Amino acid sequence: MKQIILNQFDMNTPGHIWPGFWRHPRDRMDYLDLAYWQSVAGIAERGLIDSIFFADVFGVYDVYGQSPEAALRAGTQVPINDPTLIIPSMAAATRHLGFGVTSNLSLEPPYLLARRLSTLDHLTKGRIAWNIVTGFLASAARGVGLETIQRHDDRYEVAEEYMDVLYQLWEGSWEDDAVVKDVATGLYTRPDRVHRVDHRGRHFRVDAIALTEPSPQRTPTLYQAGASTRGRAFSARHAETILISGHTKAIVAETVRDIRRQAQAFGRDPRDPKIVLGATIIAAPTTAEARDLYEDYRGHVDARGALTILAGWTGVDFSRYGLDEPIRHIDSPAAQSTLELLTIRSPDRVWTVRDLVAFEPIAGHGPFIVGSGAAVAEELIDWAAATDIDGFNFTRLVMPESLTAIVDLVVPELQSRGAFKRAYAEGTLRRKLQGHDRLPSSHPAGRFQRRRAGAA
Ligand SMILES: Cc1cc2nc3c(=O)[nH]c(=O)nc-3n(C[C@H](O)[C@H](O)[C@H](O)COP(=O)(O)O)c2cc1C
Repeated sequence: MKQIILNQFDMNTPGHIWPGFWRHPRDRMDYLDLAYWQSVAGIAERGLIDSIFFADVFGVYDVYGQSPEAALRAGTQVPINDPTLIIPSMAAATRHLGFGVTSNLSLEPPYLLARRLSTLDHLTKGRIAWNIVTGFLASAARGVGLETIQRHDDRYEVAEEYMDVLYQLWEGSWEDDAVVKDVATGLYTRPDRVHRVDHRGRHFRVDAIALTEPSPQRTPTLYQAGASTRGRAFSARHAETILISGHTKAIVAETVRDIRRQAQAFGRDPRDPKIVLGATIIAAPTTAEARDLYEDYRGHVDARGALTILAGWTGVDFSRYGLDEPIRHIDSPAAQSTLELLTIRSPDRVWTVRDLVAFEPIAGHGPFIVGSGAAVAEELIDWAAATDIDGFNFTRLVMPESLTAIVDLVVPELQSRGAFKRAYAEGTLRRKLQGHDRLPSSHPAGRFQRRRAGAA
Protein backbone atom coordinates (compact mmCIF):
# COMPACT_ATOMS: atom_id res chain seq x y z
CA MET A 1 0.00 0.00 0.00
CA LYS A 2 1.15 3.55 -0.69
CA GLN A 3 3.05 5.07 2.26
CA ILE A 4 1.32 8.24 3.39
CA ILE A 5 3.47 11.31 4.17
CA LEU A 6 2.56 13.13 7.41
CA ASN A 7 3.57 16.71 8.20
CA GLN A 8 2.74 18.83 11.21
CA PHE A 9 1.82 22.37 10.14
CA ASP A 10 2.92 25.03 12.60
CA MET A 11 3.94 28.67 12.93
CA ASN A 12 6.17 30.61 15.34
CA THR A 13 3.27 32.65 16.70
CA PRO A 14 0.35 32.34 19.18
CA GLY A 15 -2.46 31.74 16.64
CA HIS A 16 -2.13 29.77 13.42
CA ILE A 17 -4.88 28.55 11.04
CA TRP A 18 -7.42 28.13 13.83
CA PRO A 19 -6.57 31.02 16.16
CA GLY A 20 -7.68 31.20 19.79
CA PHE A 21 -6.32 27.98 21.27
CA TRP A 22 -3.82 29.87 23.40
CA ARG A 23 -6.86 30.45 25.65
CA HIS A 24 -7.48 26.73 26.12
CA PRO A 25 -6.68 25.60 29.69
CA ARG A 26 -4.61 22.63 28.48
CA ASP A 27 -2.71 24.51 25.75
CA ARG A 28 1.03 24.45 26.54
CA MET A 29 2.13 26.24 23.38
CA ASP A 30 4.94 28.63 24.31
CA TYR A 31 6.42 29.90 21.11
CA LEU A 32 9.06 31.96 22.96
CA ASP A 33 10.62 28.92 24.59
CA LEU A 34 13.18 26.67 22.88
CA ALA A 35 12.43 23.82 25.30
CA TYR A 36 8.82 23.88 24.08
CA TRP A 37 9.90 23.62 20.44
CA GLN A 38 12.34 20.83 21.23
CA SER A 39 9.56 18.90 22.97
CA VAL A 40 7.27 19.31 19.93
CA ALA A 41 10.07 18.02 17.69
CA GLY A 42 10.56 15.04 20.00
CA ILE A 43 6.85 14.13 19.89
CA ALA A 44 6.81 14.44 16.10
CA GLU A 45 9.89 12.25 15.72
CA ARG A 46 8.43 9.64 18.06
CA GLY A 47 5.52 9.43 15.60
CA LEU A 48 7.84 9.25 12.54
CA ILE A 49 6.29 12.48 11.25
CA ASP A 50 8.08 13.40 8.03
CA SER A 51 8.44 17.09 8.69
CA ILE A 52 7.29 19.99 10.78
CA PHE A 53 6.33 22.61 8.27
CA PHE A 54 6.56 26.21 9.46
CA ALA A 55 4.40 28.78 7.77
CA ASP A 56 5.60 32.37 7.95
CA VAL A 57 4.50 35.85 6.98
CA PHE A 58 6.54 39.06 7.00
CA GLY A 59 3.54 41.32 7.62
CA VAL A 60 0.34 41.61 9.62
CA TYR A 61 -3.21 40.73 8.65
CA ASP A 62 -4.70 44.18 8.26
CA VAL A 63 -7.27 43.66 5.51
CA TYR A 64 -10.07 42.91 8.01
CA GLY A 65 -11.41 46.32 9.10
CA GLN A 66 -8.46 47.91 7.22
CA SER A 67 -6.39 47.71 10.40
CA PRO A 68 -4.19 45.27 12.35
CA GLU A 69 -6.46 45.67 15.38
CA ALA A 70 -8.40 42.39 15.04
CA ALA A 71 -5.22 40.37 14.44
CA LEU A 72 -3.44 41.95 17.40
CA ARG A 73 -6.40 41.38 19.74
CA ALA A 74 -6.73 37.71 18.84
CA GLY A 75 -3.02 36.86 18.52
CA THR A 76 -3.69 35.92 14.91
CA GLN A 77 -0.26 35.32 13.36
CA VAL A 78 1.04 38.36 15.25
CA PRO A 79 3.30 38.67 17.23
CA ILE A 80 5.33 36.43 14.95
CA ASN A 81 8.95 35.32 15.36
CA ASP A 82 11.45 34.13 12.79
CA PRO A 83 10.99 30.35 12.31
CA THR A 84 14.49 29.77 10.93
CA LEU A 85 16.04 30.54 14.32
CA ILE A 86 14.27 27.78 16.27
CA ILE A 87 15.07 25.02 13.79
CA PRO A 88 18.70 24.31 14.80
CA SER A 89 17.62 23.63 18.38
CA MET A 90 14.86 21.30 17.17
CA ALA A 91 17.35 19.57 14.89
CA ALA A 92 19.72 19.07 17.81
CA ALA A 93 16.94 17.26 19.69
CA THR A 94 16.13 14.90 16.79
CA ARG A 95 17.86 12.79 14.15
CA HIS A 96 15.41 12.27 11.32
CA LEU A 97 12.59 14.81 11.51
CA GLY A 98 12.50 17.19 8.53
CA PHE A 99 11.89 20.94 8.82
CA GLY A 100 9.98 22.85 6.18
CA VAL A 101 10.46 26.58 6.53
CA THR A 102 8.71 29.37 4.68
CA SER A 103 10.61 32.40 3.43
CA ASN A 104 9.15 35.08 1.22
CA LEU A 105 11.34 35.66 -1.81
CA SER A 106 9.76 39.01 -2.69
CA LEU A 107 11.40 40.81 0.21
CA GLU A 108 15.09 39.92 0.17
CA PRO A 109 17.84 39.36 -2.38
CA PRO A 110 18.47 35.72 -3.37
CA TYR A 111 22.13 36.01 -2.32
CA LEU A 112 21.16 36.39 1.36
CA LEU A 113 18.41 33.78 1.37
CA ALA A 114 20.78 31.28 -0.26
CA ARG A 115 23.24 31.56 2.62
CA ARG A 116 20.58 31.30 5.34
CA LEU A 117 19.03 28.17 3.89
CA SER A 118 22.42 26.55 3.20
CA THR A 119 23.41 27.22 6.81
CA LEU A 120 20.24 25.46 7.95
CA ASP A 121 20.88 22.57 5.58
CA HIS A 122 24.36 22.15 7.09
CA LEU A 123 23.19 22.43 10.70
CA THR A 124 20.32 19.96 10.20
CA LYS A 125 22.49 17.56 8.16
CA GLY A 126 20.26 17.94 5.13
CA ARG A 127 16.84 17.96 6.76
CA ILE A 128 15.69 21.35 5.46
CA ALA A 129 12.91 22.15 3.03
CA TRP A 130 12.17 25.67 1.83
CA ASN A 131 8.55 26.61 1.23
CA ILE A 132 8.78 29.05 -1.67
CA VAL A 133 6.30 31.88 -1.21
CA THR A 134 5.91 35.18 -2.97
CA GLY A 135 3.76 36.77 -0.25
CA PHE A 136 0.19 37.95 -0.32
CA LEU A 137 0.23 40.62 2.41
CA ALA A 138 0.57 44.22 1.24
CA SER A 139 1.52 45.10 4.84
CA ALA A 140 4.75 43.10 4.43
CA ALA A 141 5.68 45.03 1.29
CA ARG A 142 4.99 48.37 3.04
CA GLY A 143 7.17 47.25 5.93
CA VAL A 144 10.22 47.12 3.67
CA GLY A 145 9.41 50.39 1.92
CA LEU A 146 7.47 49.18 -1.13
CA GLU A 147 4.12 50.68 -2.11
CA THR A 148 2.38 47.31 -2.22
CA ILE A 149 2.87 43.75 -3.43
CA GLN A 150 3.34 43.06 -7.11
CA ARG A 151 0.48 41.81 -9.24
CA HIS A 152 -0.35 38.15 -8.66
CA ASP A 153 1.01 36.60 -11.86
CA ASP A 154 3.96 39.02 -12.02
CA ARG A 155 5.13 37.68 -8.63
CA TYR A 156 5.56 34.26 -10.16
CA GLU A 157 7.54 35.70 -13.11
CA VAL A 158 9.95 37.32 -10.67
CA ALA A 159 10.06 34.06 -8.71
CA GLU A 160 11.18 32.15 -11.83
CA GLU A 161 14.24 34.36 -12.18
CA TYR A 162 14.86 34.28 -8.42
CA MET A 163 14.99 30.50 -8.56
CA ASP A 164 17.51 30.63 -11.40
CA VAL A 165 19.78 32.80 -9.28
CA LEU A 166 19.45 30.49 -6.26
CA TYR A 167 20.18 27.41 -8.38
CA GLN A 168 23.34 29.07 -9.68
CA LEU A 169 24.48 29.84 -6.11
CA TRP A 170 23.55 26.45 -4.69
CA GLU A 171 24.38 24.15 -7.57
CA GLY A 172 26.96 25.95 -9.67
CA SER A 173 29.27 28.00 -7.50
CA TRP A 174 31.20 25.47 -5.39
CA GLU A 175 32.34 22.13 -6.72
CA ASP A 176 31.94 19.15 -4.42
CA ASP A 177 35.69 18.84 -3.87
CA ALA A 178 36.37 22.56 -3.36
CA VAL A 179 36.97 22.25 0.38
CA VAL A 180 40.09 20.18 1.03
CA LYS A 181 41.15 21.30 4.56
CA ASP A 182 44.72 20.23 3.84
CA VAL A 183 46.58 20.74 7.11
CA ALA A 184 49.98 20.07 5.55
CA THR A 185 49.72 22.85 2.96
CA GLY A 186 47.37 25.11 4.88
CA LEU A 187 44.87 25.02 2.01
CA TYR A 188 41.27 25.20 3.19
CA THR A 189 39.45 25.74 -0.12
CA ARG A 190 40.78 25.35 -3.68
CA PRO A 191 40.00 28.69 -5.34
CA ASP A 192 39.86 27.06 -8.81
CA ARG A 193 36.89 24.97 -7.63
CA VAL A 194 34.79 27.98 -6.61
CA HIS A 195 33.03 29.82 -9.42
CA ARG A 196 31.63 33.29 -9.62
CA VAL A 197 27.94 33.63 -10.42
CA ASP A 198 27.45 36.33 -13.01
CA HIS A 199 23.74 36.86 -13.42
CA ARG A 200 22.30 39.88 -15.19
CA GLY A 201 18.57 39.42 -15.52
CA ARG A 202 15.43 41.51 -15.69
CA HIS A 203 14.92 41.61 -11.94
CA PHE A 204 18.20 40.55 -10.35
CA ARG A 205 21.94 41.08 -10.76
CA VAL A 206 24.43 38.95 -8.91
CA ASP A 207 28.20 39.14 -9.24
CA ALA A 208 29.49 36.94 -6.42
CA ILE A 209 30.53 33.51 -5.31
CA ALA A 210 28.19 31.66 -2.97
CA LEU A 211 29.32 32.15 0.63
CA THR A 212 28.68 28.61 1.84
CA GLU A 213 30.31 25.34 0.90
CA PRO A 214 27.97 22.71 -0.63
CA SER A 215 25.45 21.49 1.94
CA PRO A 216 24.12 17.91 2.05
CA GLN A 217 21.21 18.65 -0.28
CA ARG A 218 22.76 21.74 -1.97
CA THR A 219 19.33 23.09 -3.00
CA PRO A 220 17.05 22.40 0.00
CA THR A 221 14.03 20.21 -0.64
CA LEU A 222 11.55 22.53 -2.34
CA TYR A 223 8.02 22.97 -0.98
CA GLN A 224 5.46 25.21 -2.66
CA ALA A 225 1.83 25.99 -1.99
CA GLY A 226 0.59 28.23 -4.79
CA ALA A 227 -2.60 26.76 -6.14
CA SER A 228 -3.90 29.34 -8.60
CA THR A 229 -3.48 28.53 -12.29
CA ARG A 230 -0.15 30.38 -12.43
CA GLY A 231 0.89 29.07 -9.02
CA ARG A 232 0.35 25.48 -10.12
CA ALA A 233 2.46 25.94 -13.22
CA PHE A 234 5.27 27.25 -11.01
CA SER A 235 5.04 24.42 -8.50
CA ALA A 236 4.67 21.75 -11.21
CA ARG A 237 8.02 22.95 -12.59
CA HIS A 238 10.04 23.45 -9.40
CA ALA A 239 8.42 21.94 -6.30
CA GLU A 240 9.14 18.51 -4.83
CA THR A 241 6.36 18.75 -2.24
CA ILE A 242 3.21 20.68 -3.14
CA LEU A 243 0.89 21.75 -0.33
CA ILE A 244 -2.74 22.10 -1.25
CA SER A 245 -6.14 22.84 0.28
CA GLY A 246 -9.57 21.58 -0.73
CA HIS A 247 -12.72 20.63 1.08
CA THR A 248 -14.14 17.91 -1.16
CA LYS A 249 -12.53 14.81 -2.62
CA ALA A 250 -13.69 15.83 -6.10
CA ILE A 251 -12.00 19.25 -5.89
CA VAL A 252 -8.80 17.79 -4.47
CA ALA A 253 -8.69 15.01 -7.06
CA GLU A 254 -9.08 17.57 -9.84
CA THR A 255 -6.24 19.70 -8.40
CA VAL A 256 -3.99 16.64 -8.12
CA ARG A 257 -4.72 15.52 -11.69
CA ASP A 258 -3.90 18.98 -12.98
CA ILE A 259 -0.63 19.24 -11.02
CA ARG A 260 0.54 15.81 -12.20
CA ARG A 261 -0.41 16.63 -15.79
CA GLN A 262 1.52 19.90 -15.66
CA ALA A 263 4.55 18.22 -14.03
CA GLN A 264 4.59 15.75 -16.90
CA ALA A 265 4.38 18.58 -19.41
CA PHE A 266 7.57 19.96 -17.81
CA GLY A 267 9.30 16.62 -18.43
CA ARG A 268 8.93 15.31 -14.88
CA ASP A 269 7.59 12.00 -13.72
CA PRO A 270 4.00 12.94 -12.74
CA ARG A 271 4.47 11.07 -9.44
CA ASP A 272 7.59 13.04 -8.62
CA PRO A 273 5.91 15.98 -6.85
CA LYS A 274 4.57 14.79 -3.51
CA ILE A 275 1.15 16.37 -3.03
CA VAL A 276 0.18 17.02 0.58
CA LEU A 277 -3.28 18.14 1.70
CA GLY A 278 -4.01 20.31 4.75
CA ALA A 279 -6.22 18.52 7.32
CA THR A 280 -7.72 19.14 10.75
CA ILE A 281 -7.65 16.05 12.97
CA ILE A 282 -9.23 15.54 16.39
CA ALA A 283 -8.44 12.06 17.67
CA ALA A 284 -9.24 10.39 20.99
CA PRO A 285 -9.37 6.79 22.28
CA THR A 286 -13.03 6.48 21.22
CA THR A 287 -15.11 8.37 18.67
CA ALA A 288 -17.48 9.51 21.47
CA GLU A 289 -14.53 11.02 23.34
CA ALA A 290 -13.31 12.64 20.15
CA ARG A 291 -16.72 14.29 19.68
CA ASP A 292 -16.53 15.67 23.23
CA LEU A 293 -13.04 16.95 22.54
CA TYR A 294 -14.28 18.59 19.38
CA GLU A 295 -17.01 20.43 21.32
CA ASP A 296 -14.40 21.51 23.85
CA TYR A 297 -12.03 22.81 21.15
CA ARG A 298 -14.84 24.49 19.24
CA GLY A 299 -15.53 26.77 22.18
CA HIS A 300 -11.99 28.12 22.02
CA VAL A 301 -11.70 28.99 18.34
CA ASP A 302 -11.62 32.74 17.81
CA ALA A 303 -14.07 33.32 14.97
CA ARG A 304 -13.02 36.92 14.31
CA GLY A 305 -9.38 35.79 14.33
CA ALA A 306 -10.17 33.15 11.70
CA LEU A 307 -11.94 35.73 9.56
CA THR A 308 -8.95 38.05 9.89
CA ILE A 309 -6.73 35.39 8.34
CA LEU A 310 -9.17 34.70 5.56
CA ALA A 311 -9.41 38.41 4.79
CA GLY A 312 -5.62 38.53 4.47
CA TRP A 313 -5.49 35.45 2.25
CA THR A 314 -8.21 36.62 -0.10
CA GLY A 315 -7.77 40.40 0.07
CA VAL A 316 -11.48 40.73 0.94
CA ASP A 317 -12.42 42.87 3.95
CA PHE A 318 -14.92 40.51 5.60
CA SER A 319 -15.76 43.10 8.29
CA ARG A 320 -18.02 44.60 5.61
CA TYR A 321 -19.93 41.36 5.08
CA GLY A 322 -23.05 40.27 6.95
CA LEU A 323 -22.68 36.85 8.58
CA ASP A 324 -25.01 35.21 6.07
CA GLU A 325 -23.84 37.07 3.01
CA PRO A 326 -22.54 34.88 0.18
CA ILE A 327 -18.84 35.10 -0.68
CA ARG A 328 -18.32 36.49 -4.18
CA HIS A 329 -15.33 36.14 -6.44
CA ILE A 330 -13.21 39.23 -7.01
CA ASP A 331 -9.91 39.60 -8.80
CA SER A 332 -7.49 40.09 -5.93
CA PRO A 333 -3.74 40.53 -5.80
CA ALA A 334 -3.67 38.23 -2.75
CA ALA A 335 -4.02 34.44 -2.80
CA GLN A 336 -6.35 33.81 -5.73
CA SER A 337 -6.66 30.11 -5.06
CA THR A 338 -8.53 30.57 -1.76
CA LEU A 339 -11.26 32.65 -3.37
CA GLU A 340 -11.39 30.37 -6.38
CA LEU A 341 -12.00 27.37 -4.11
CA LEU A 342 -14.90 29.08 -2.38
CA THR A 343 -16.55 30.47 -5.50
CA ILE A 344 -15.71 29.35 -9.03
CA ARG A 345 -14.66 25.82 -8.01
CA SER A 346 -17.66 25.26 -5.70
CA PRO A 347 -20.58 25.89 -8.09
CA ASP A 348 -22.84 23.54 -6.13
CA ARG A 349 -22.81 25.55 -2.91
CA VAL A 350 -22.87 29.12 -1.76
CA TRP A 351 -20.40 29.94 1.02
CA THR A 352 -21.26 32.52 3.63
CA VAL A 353 -19.07 34.31 6.14
CA ARG A 354 -20.63 32.19 8.89
CA ASP A 355 -19.48 28.99 7.12
CA LEU A 356 -15.94 30.20 6.86
CA VAL A 357 -15.36 30.78 10.54
CA ALA A 358 -17.23 27.74 11.83
CA PHE A 359 -14.87 25.20 13.38
CA GLU A 360 -16.63 22.51 11.42
CA PRO A 361 -15.98 20.06 8.62
CA ILE A 362 -17.52 22.44 6.10
CA ALA A 363 -14.87 25.15 6.62
CA GLY A 364 -13.07 25.25 3.31
CA HIS A 365 -9.53 24.23 4.25
CA GLY A 366 -9.55 20.45 3.81
CA PRO A 367 -10.56 17.20 5.50
CA PHE A 368 -11.80 17.75 9.04
CA ILE A 369 -11.86 14.42 10.83
CA VAL A 370 -13.09 13.72 14.36
CA GLY A 371 -12.86 10.16 15.68
CA SER A 372 -10.96 7.31 17.25
CA GLY A 373 -7.45 6.58 15.98
CA ALA A 374 -8.86 3.80 13.79
CA ALA A 375 -11.66 5.96 12.39
CA VAL A 376 -9.26 8.80 11.58
CA ALA A 377 -6.79 6.39 9.95
CA GLU A 378 -9.55 4.88 7.78
CA GLU A 379 -10.67 8.34 6.63
CA LEU A 380 -7.13 9.43 5.81
CA ILE A 381 -6.57 6.28 3.76
CA ASP A 382 -9.91 6.91 2.02
CA TRP A 383 -8.96 10.49 1.13
CA ALA A 384 -5.56 9.41 -0.17
CA ALA A 385 -7.08 6.68 -2.33
CA ALA A 386 -9.89 8.85 -3.71
CA THR A 387 -7.74 11.87 -4.55
CA ASP A 388 -4.28 10.46 -5.37
CA ILE A 389 -2.59 12.78 -2.84
CA ASP A 390 0.61 11.60 -1.16
CA GLY A 391 0.00 12.82 2.36
CA PHE A 392 -1.40 15.26 4.89
CA ASN A 393 -0.37 18.41 6.62
CA PHE A 394 -1.94 18.52 10.10
CA THR A 395 -3.13 21.88 11.31
CA ARG A 396 -2.00 22.86 14.79
CA LEU A 397 -4.78 22.80 17.41
CA VAL A 398 -4.32 22.57 21.20
CA MET A 399 -0.62 21.86 21.72
CA PRO A 400 0.93 19.49 22.23
CA GLU A 401 -2.07 17.28 23.00
CA SER A 402 -3.54 17.32 19.49
CA LEU A 403 -0.17 16.27 18.00
CA THR A 404 0.36 13.67 20.73
CA ALA A 405 -3.07 12.18 19.92
CA ILE A 406 -2.10 11.83 16.26
CA VAL A 407 1.22 10.23 17.18
CA ASP A 408 -0.16 7.83 19.79
CA LEU A 409 -3.57 7.00 18.34
CA VAL A 410 -3.59 7.58 14.57
CA VAL A 411 -0.05 6.63 13.55
CA PRO A 412 -0.23 3.03 14.94
CA GLU A 413 -3.57 2.52 13.14
CA LEU A 414 -2.08 3.72 9.86
CA GLN A 415 0.91 1.42 10.42
CA SER A 416 -1.23 -1.62 11.16
CA ARG A 417 -3.04 -1.01 7.84
CA GLY A 418 0.30 -0.87 6.02
CA ALA A 419 -0.21 2.81 5.10
CA PHE A 420 2.62 4.38 7.12
CA LYS A 421 6.29 3.55 7.64
CA ARG A 422 7.52 1.76 10.79
CA ALA A 423 10.94 3.45 10.75
CA TYR A 424 12.53 6.47 9.14
CA ALA A 425 14.77 5.90 6.14
CA GLU A 426 18.35 7.08 6.66
CA GLY A 427 19.71 10.23 5.08
CA THR A 428 18.63 13.69 4.05
CA LEU A 429 15.03 14.84 3.78
CA ARG A 430 15.22 14.61 -0.01
CA ARG A 431 16.56 11.06 0.22
CA LYS A 432 13.72 10.10 2.56
CA LEU A 433 11.06 11.62 0.28
CA GLN A 434 12.54 11.18 -3.18
CA GLY A 435 15.30 8.59 -2.83
CA HIS A 436 18.29 10.87 -3.57
CA ASP A 437 20.22 13.65 -1.82
CA ARG A 438 20.61 16.15 -4.64
CA LEU A 439 18.24 17.43 -7.31
CA PRO A 440 18.34 15.33 -10.48
CA SER A 441 19.73 16.86 -13.66
CA SER A 442 16.22 16.83 -15.19
CA HIS A 443 15.10 19.46 -12.63
CA PRO A 444 15.30 23.16 -13.68
CA ALA A 445 18.27 23.42 -11.27
CA GLY A 446 20.07 20.76 -13.30
CA ARG A 447 21.39 23.10 -15.95
CA PHE A 448 23.48 24.89 -13.31
CA GLN A 449 25.04 21.75 -11.84
CA ARG A 450 28.79 21.29 -12.38
CA ARG A 451 29.62 18.13 -10.52
CA ARG A 452 27.02 15.52 -10.03
CA ALA A 453 28.81 13.25 -7.55
CA GLY A 454 26.20 11.95 -5.12
CA ALA A 455 23.28 13.09 -7.25
CA ALA A 456 20.54 10.83 -8.49
C1 LIG B 1 -0.95 24.89 2.87
C2 LIG B 1 -0.55 26.28 2.47
C3 LIG B 1 0.43 26.93 3.22
C4 LIG B 1 0.83 28.21 2.90
N1 LIG B 1 1.76 28.83 3.68
C5 LIG B 1 2.11 30.10 3.39
C6 LIG B 1 3.02 30.79 4.23
O1 LIG B 1 3.49 30.26 5.23
N2 LIG B 1 3.35 32.05 3.92
C7 LIG B 1 2.85 32.69 2.82
O2 LIG B 1 3.22 33.84 2.58
N3 LIG B 1 1.97 32.06 2.01
C8 LIG B 1 1.60 30.79 2.29
N4 LIG B 1 0.69 30.16 1.49
C9 LIG B 1 0.21 30.89 0.32
C10 LIG B 1 0.84 30.41 -0.96
O3 LIG B 1 2.22 30.25 -0.90
C11 LIG B 1 0.56 31.39 -2.09
O4 LIG B 1 1.25 32.60 -1.92
C12 LIG B 1 -0.85 31.72 -2.14
O5 LIG B 1 -1.61 30.56 -2.14
C13 LIG B 1 -1.07 32.59 -3.36
O6 LIG B 1 -0.75 31.94 -4.51
P1 LIG B 1 -1.87 31.29 -5.39
O7 LIG B 1 -2.86 32.37 -5.69
O8 LIG B 1 -1.11 30.81 -6.58
O9 LIG B 1 -2.45 30.16 -4.60
C14 LIG B 1 0.26 28.88 1.79
C15 LIG B 1 -0.73 28.24 1.04
C16 LIG B 1 -1.15 26.94 1.37
C17 LIG B 1 -2.20 26.27 0.55
